[in-house]
Amino acid sequence: MQRTLAICKPDCLARSLAGQVLSRIEAGGFRIVAMKMIRLTRSQAGHFYDVHREKPFYPELLDFMTEGPVVVAVLEKGDAVESWRALMGATNPAQAAEGTIRRDLAESMSRNVVHGSDSPENARREIAFFFSESELLAAEK
Ligand code: RTP
Ligand code: MG
Repeated sequence: MQRTLAICKPDCLARSLAGQVLSRIEAGGFRIVAMKMIRLTRSQAGHFYDVHREKPFYPELLDFMTEGPVVVAVLEKGDAVESWRALMGATNPAQAAEGTIRRDLAESMSRNVVHGSDSPENARREIAFFFSESELLAAEK
């Protein structure tokens, strides 16, 4: 089993799409291991997306990620990282495959509803950024 980090971004909650996204996650065969709703500070969003610090869209990305609450969740499945990226679809909804979350629900490349880790290594880092060991242990059977 592998784990990945999912985020329902501020546009997702503002547009009342969180239930629909979580339904798709459950229908996609993921186990939700841990989940919470939080409001990111600019510092937290900045650290989370540190890899994009030099990109032109970085300030806009931090504005967006801090404009309202997000839901962060740890998803578990055999191939969780790849499988969740596939369910999300490409960054740009215009290029996302039919039936993906971004194709069906996202308004633009910037406001694209969901986040997913892009590698198992980054998944471990991102999960540890948001969830303590005891929060993750709470889901163990
Ligand atoms: P994410 O990290 O949120 O799962 O998205 P991603 O891997 O598909 O895309 P990434 O390249 O990591 O970009 C992170 C987020 O920055 C915003 N973005 N805006 N306006 C733009 O050109 C642009 N490019 C990226 C999006 O919110 C994207 O998901
Ligand atoms: Mg990314």
